Amino acid sequence: MKKKVVLITGSSRGIGNAIARKCAEAGADIAINYRRAGGTSQAAGEALCREIQAMGRKAIMVQADIAVKESVKKLFQDTAEKLGRLDCLVLNAARAPFKPIHKLFERELKQLVETNYMGNIYCIQESLSMLEESSGKIVFISSLGSRFYNPAYPLGSMKAAMESVVRDSAETLREKNISINGVCGGLVKTDSFKVLRQYWENIDMLPEELFVEPDEMADVVLFLCGPESRGISGQTIVVDKGLSNTLFRTSGK
Ligand SMILES: NC(=O)c1ccc[n+]([C@@H]2O[C@H](COP(=O)([O-])OP(=O)(O)OC[C@H]3O[C@@H](n4cnc5c(N)ncnc54)[C@H](OP(=O)(O)O)[C@@H]3O)[C@@H](O)[C@H]2O)c1
Repeated sequence: MKKKVVLITGSSRGIGNAIARKCAEAGADIAINYRRAGGTSQAAGEALCREIQAMGRKAIMVQADIAVKESVKKLFQDTAEKLGRLDCLVLNAARAPFKPIHKLFERELKQLVETNYMGNIYCIQESLSMLEESSGKIVFISSLGSRFYNPAYPLGSMKAAMESVVRDSAETLREKNISINGVCGGLVKTDSFKVLRQYWENIDMLPEELFVEPDEMADVVLFLCGPESRGISGQTIVVDKGLSNTLFRTSGK
């Protein structure tokens, strides 16, 4: 990944943070993005930025809400001005209420779609000119909610829509030499998981070995960002430690 630039949306904390570090360790310069200015998330992003710079890589932090088109334009303008190019865009940011779909208020429904569907598409649109120049790659981060019922998880429907966008765009972006794939994660113990466990009865009874580490997601994202994935197009790879492959498991054996 030397001389490559990777932009990861929502990379101040959680899985995005692990992806940014992994890509930097592989030699890339990194654009870190986050939404909320001034809080612990920004502080975590700043710490990651310093860590990456200490590795001898370039790293920038850009505050931008992917749900707002103007904000997304600024995210890509800043990346172009400060890092000069873009080779990989990782669509990782997500934000959604935890409640059944039929209980969503109008503003929650709008936020769900504007961030997790429209926001990702704004990012794809704004990235195209730079990715066309670099014959670059897009990686979307999905979750098992795209294909299985998860309690109080309306985000799953947006993940399903985006996995469809991955399949569709793989064909329509082919002529620009831009590839797009997805990584569908199982259960990862990040901040958002702390909220999920309040709604998911018995989730703590799952064997520890079925939980995915952020690093394990990041390894597959790095693979899809690199040349070794050249034979893969429009696919979403499941990284769930086998969770979706079994109805009942009492141990990892
Ligand atoms: N955790 C899991 O079990 C799991 C499993 C499979 C897939 N995933 C997926 O993996 C991705 C990361 O999940 P995570 O658990 O690491 O999330 P997280 O800990 O909640 O972190 C979310 C990150 O996204 C940023 N973000 C949220 N809304 C944004 C917006 N509108 N614009 C820009 N940045 C925004 C946050 O920034 P601020 O802190 O500034 O808000 C933060 O950096 C998501 O797409 C999620 O659906 C998660």
